Amino acid sequence: MALTQERRLVTPIPGPASQALMARKHAAVPAAVATTMPVFAAEASGGIVKDVDGNQLIDLGSGIAVTTVGVSAPRVVDAVAAQAAAYTHTCFMVTPYEPYVAVAEALNRLTPGDHEKRTALFNSGAEAVENAVKIARAHTGRQAVVVFDHAYHGRTNLTMAMTAKSMPYKHGFGPFSPEVYRAPMSYPFRDGIKDGRLAAERALDVIDKQVGAANLAAVVIEPIQGEGGFVVPAEGFLAAIAQWCTENGVVFVADEVQSGFGRTGAMYACEHEGVVPDLVVTAKGVADGLPLSAVTGRAAIMDAAHASGLGGTYGGNPLACAAALATIEILEAEGLVARAGAIESLMRDRLHRVAADDPRIGDVRGRGAMIAIELVDAAGEPDAALAKRLASACHTEGVIILTCGTWGNVIRFLPPLTISDALLHEALDVLTTALQEA
Ligand SMILES: Cc1ncc(COP(=O)(O)O)c(C=O)c1O
Repeated sequence: MALTQERRLVTPIPGPASQALMARKHAAVPAAVATTMPVFAAEASGGIVKDVDGNQLIDLGSGIAVTTVGVSAPRVVDAVAAQAAAYTHTCFMVTPYEPYVAVAEALNRLTPGDHEKRTALFNSGAEAVENAVKIARAHTGRQAVVVFDHAYHGRTNLTMAMTAKSMPYKHGFGPFSPEVYRAPMSYPFRDGIKDGRLAAERALDVIDKQVGAANLAAVVIEPIQGEGGFVVPAEGFLAAIAQWCTENGVVFVADEVQSGFGRTGAMYACEHEGVVPDLVVTAKGVADGLPLSAVTGRAAIMDAAHASGLGGTYGGNPLACAAALATIEILEAEGLVARAGAIESLMRDRLHRVAADDPRIGDVRGRGAMIAIELVDAAGEPDAALAKRLASACHTEGVIILTCGTWGNVIRFLPPLTISDALLHEALDVLTTALQEA
């Protein structure tokens, strides 16, 4: 049932029912599976999450960039229910079904470029990234993979190797997969290089000298980095790297797990720079919360892996495919990609006004409904403690916000694209007050 789209606090956060559940969690779930919020969800719809104590929270996280069309969008719920009644699973590798093919066709249409494409479906972002690497290796006959500083690609063994940050993602979990090399990212706020082509030259020099194009299967990059701090590379960086890949027979892979699917005001973030990747990785926002991910790319590359070389028991599960098809319908019918642009204008305007009076906001950046503020101390150094205090104050006031960044000093905003301007303004009012008091 749809919730009223309003913030309402009826107990302190966390309330007694959440506290009791948290005690059960501590006894039953390893501490390594940590939670951002101290409350347990009971219901959610649109831009509101209601907790087990009856508090209604404004959702500026979308379950980490997943519920782009609004959590439990009615059309998605109906499509999943109908699909569940028809069949929950047959395994596409045993008895294939039409919704998988329909999702592949849709992603072939929606991803950048009008070349011939193929799509393979998986379950999680990390699994899809791993498969993009497998495909690139099969196509090139080479092994090395280049990733970037601050990158996040997942928590499986290969994607831990590809992820930059040690704590909490990698610490104590090695050894990691070999043949993964790291190049400097373009991070204009921190490296001061505003010309993307210069930043690319720096990265390509490292790649050339330390890896060598002849050994390199793929360059994997987030067009806007997610967990690493919503880092938007300087204009021209992505295009220069992509061009070098084309000239050297290296597969250019855009990991659009967080930045894709309408989130940034384009269907895929690399479109803002006119970049057409060889392979695109999609997950998160594609299926409104059902586990689905995809690798989409040039037919010649995607078809390089041998028959039965790709797959998995659940990849492209029919319920997730039904959810994806409904999600795509909603995105297109409701013009939500354009709505992300309007959210960007509203948020930038508000955040720049706060930043003008508060030097602790070092940078306001991002695109569409993927916006962040980077918090710094008086010396311009990352201020993770402030980010923590601010996030916690917002949580207590009933606003779900997330932190990110290599130094943990970035507050990121990922509202559902269906959220009202009124809820956004209210959440930003809470943030503004919390910042004044932090
Ligand atoms: C850019 C990027 N790649 C990969 C992943 C991993 O996705 P998953 O958590 O679904 O495995 C994430 C998750 O946050 C991500 O942001």
